[in-house]
Amino acid sequence: MNSDSIGKFKEELAEIYHLQSALAVLRWDEDVYMPPKGSDIRGKTIASLAGMLHDRFVSPQFSRLVRSAKKELDAGRLDEDNACIVREVWREFSREKKLPTEFVKELAETTSKSVAAWKVAREKKDFKRFAPVLRKVVELERRQAEYLGYKSSPYEALLDIYEPGASLEDLEMTFFELRDFLVPFLGRIMGSKVRIKGLPKKDYPLAAQEEFNRFVAARMGFDFEAGRLDVSVHPFTTNFHSYDVRITTRYDRRDPLSSINSTIHEAGHALYEQGIPNGNFGSPLGEAVSLGIHESQSRLWENIVGRSLDFWKYFYPRLRKRFPGNLDGFSLEDFHRHVNAVKPSLIRTEADEVTYSLHIILRFEIEKGLIEGSLAVEDLPKIWRAKMKEYFGIAVPNDALGVLQDVHWPSGLFGYFPTYALGNLYGAQFYAAAKRDILGLEKEMRSGNLSHLREWLRKNVHAHGKRFLADELIRRTSGEPLNARYFMDYLKEKYSRIYGL
Ligand code: CO
Repeated sequence: MNSDSIGKFKEELAEIYHLQSALAVLRWDEDVYMPPKGSDIRGKTIASLAGMLHDRFVSPQFSRLVRSAKKELDAGRLDEDNACIVREVWREFSREKKLPTEFVKELAETTSKSVAAWKVAREKKDFKRFAPVLRKVVELERRQAEYLGYKSSPYEALLDIYEPGASLEDLEMTFFELRDFLVPFLGRIMGSKVRIKGLPKKDYPLAAQEEFNRFVAARMGFDFEAGRLDVSVHPFTTNFHSYDVRITTRYDRRDPLSSINSTIHEAGHALYEQGIPNGNFGSPLGEAVSLGIHESQSRLWENIVGRSLDFWKYFYPRLRKRFPGNLDGFSLEDFHRHVNAVKPSLIRTEADEVTYSLHIILRFEIEKGLIEGSLAVEDLPKIWRAKMKEYFGIAVPNDALGVLQDVHWPSGLFGYFPTYALGNLYGAQFYAAAKRDILGLEKEMRSGNLSHLREWLRKNVHAHGKRFLADELIRRTSGEPLNARYFMDYLKEKYSRIYGL
């Protein structure tokens, strides 16, 4: 392949990214601005654009270009940038090619029906009603794994979709190590005599909340000239390219932390997207590594930074000033303990930092069992209850508050959950490395200066795009492979202090 044809390949690829970008705008608008009556035709518009995108990606013309680029890659004739681009496009392309069109259609139709059935079942708190549909989804996911190929467990093939290159064996060992630490540690916290005061129940006007959220995001380094902060039911981040990154939050008049925590989380995701060189748009060099690494950025900011005493030393007086009188008599220490209160709960999305990963490990164990065939769908409620009892010490009153709470399984997203817990682990390891590299990191934070940390993340994580797989990235930045110790040590130190253990 001469430079002309690699040029042609990259041109075609950029077109695909432009279509993707347009699709992202439509989806963002659907969740943020679109009036309710727009939903029907918007759905069809998105489906038709998604179809065009897929056709383009697997078209004979693009296939030819990808295949010859792959030959160049295998012959070692590409420079580092092009090698990364071709490697990553090939990963995606060969996956698409392995799945028969008929199968993709069947999976899309089945999961769309299954999400509808799940909504009804959750409302009626009735798992039995949902079981036959879920069984069908599991069966298709297992077929998908067969098409994609794997070494020893079909679950590997699914995990690889969301966390490319992750080893199931390593992941399992890491999760078990984490679980065996968290369960007794949670027990000790629950046994503590420390009682944490709730935030004063007052009215926190939305305008002041919004202003504070924008202030925090700007301090973190979110570039409002290259992004927006809006409102949606479920907070999320999307990007059209690194100069246009959208985040959302949601406001609760009784509790300003609901919006603050989600803004910090989403701004953490957004800093990643804004930190990718804009000139790299249109190829994998302009994209994030994996869901796990993405989540490491949001969780590092939301939890390690955004729930630390150092961070609030600067921000808390400013928060109080925006809500005159509301927080009188509620000290910085009270506030810090409040944002870190640990309480085993039924719902994953409401979980605190200590119990969150346990929710994930529980789901990981179950979904792996389902895909490998060692667990049966009809036994799910029973297994769920047993594990909730074992890990959290709590009883599940009904399936809506148990096995029916998440949209992931009905949507066919098996293999996705682990990325959330990986985010916690990668985040703690990145932060430990940043602390070693940056002199006085926490002192800077106490005076509201977050730029050193942001620049460190930009240089070591964001700027690379997909140049390195997660495993290589963590080795390069921290000097070792993923190690759960960092997260466990962080939790131990912080919560031992808060709970006087
Ligand atoms: Co996130």
